[in-house]
Amino acid sequence: MTDDVAIGPLDLAAHVDEALAVQALAFGLGDDEIAVRRQIVLRHVTYPGARALGATTPEGRLVGFVYGMPNDRAHWWSSVVEPYLRAQGTDFWLDDSFVITELHVHPRHQYRGIGRTLITTLTDAAAQPRSILSAIDTDSPARGLYRSLGYTDLARNVVFPSAPRPYAVMGAPLPLRRR
Ligand SMILES: CC(C)(COP(=O)(O)OP(=O)(O)OC[C@H]1O[C@@H](n2cnc3c(N)ncnc32)[C@H](O)[C@@H]1OP(=O)(O)O)[C@@H](O)C(=O)NCCC(=O)NCCS
Repeated sequence: MTDDVAIGPLDLAAHVDEALAVQALAFGLGDDEIAVRRQIVLRHVTYPGARALGATTPEGRLVGFVYGMPNDRAHWWSSVVEPYLRAQGTDFWLDDSFVITELHVHPRHQYRGIGRTLITTLTDAAAQPRSILSAIDTDSPARGLYRSLGYTDLARNVVFPSAPRPYAVMGAPLPLRRR
């Protein structure tokens, strides 16, 4: 199902450049954005409970990754989405929740179940009873994947400073739904 790639723990600090190269291809990041994301990722990996998984080919090439952490209302992401969720009465999702911060699969390896395996394996090991994330508010493969895993919209049209497009914030009970 997941091709011949192996899914396993990823030392994101040691592999940040490979991970961002995957993200740049999958999500479309320019060099300036990569430099900014690099600092953010290196800060995120120091947060309590942050965990990452990678998808690696037999040749040792990283072709997908996911990472996340227990949500903390003091974190930047949480403070941006909180008023949108509060307006919908869904901000309790910010407590006891595991945040998926990034999920990306190299375009040549997409649609083979790698993304699904990465996010379900990461959240299966979470101590929290639910998971939250944000995704660009459009009908993308990412939104389709998240819905099929049980994520529903907690708020839409969420605007992050400096992001050109609005996001949807989604939440799902854990463990994620199986097909
Ligand atoms: C989102 C992403 C990580 C999914 O990775 P993937 O390995 O291709 O996904 P999987 O093969 O595990 O899952 C496929 C699921 O996605 C959805 N999906 C796949 N292709 C789709 C398409 N063309 N249209 C809509 N949904 C699609 C389906 O729900 C599918 O489930 P299925 O297996 O029942 O058909 C990958 O598409 C990606 O990297 N996208 C660009 C970066 C991005 O948007 N990341 C998320 C940021 S929030």
